[in-house]
Amino acid sequence: MEKLIAYAQQMRSHAHAPYSNYTVGAAVLTADGNMIGGCNVESSSYGLTCCAERVALYRAVAEGHSSFKALAVATENGGSLCGACRQVVWDLCGDIPIFITDKNGKFEETSSSKLLPEAFDQDNLT
Ligand code: THU
Repeated sequence: MEKLIAYAQQMRSHAHAPYSNYTVGAAVLTADGNMIGGCNVESSSYGLTCCAERVALYRAVAEGHSSFKALAVATENGGSLCGACRQVVWDLCGDIPIFITDKNGKFEETSSSKLLPEAFDQDNLT
């Protein structure tokens, strides 16, 4: 998990965040052992911004991965995942461990089910 956290921290340096200056990195560990990274990408039309977690997960899906074991998220202050990302993580990953780290490498472990209790998901659609 140290490697996944370090990769998320590295991804922070790729962030495009000229409006908020809040840079975020994320890294997802696939079932077959690959680490796929993402960073937040902001738009001048603010609502088009995409969070680091979703960039990492959508990139992983686009590269052919469909099963995930863990997620690491890196911010300056150890800030948590937004609500939209919590839903996407639950939908694509189910209940996985999530490591949230700050700029000093201090981290906390949580999980998708802790971050999004009583989630809406595909089971509600059948
Ligand atoms: N952001 C993320 O990348 N992930 C989150 O879970 C929270 C917010 C980004 C979006 C925006 O570029 C900046 O942080 C400030 O909201």
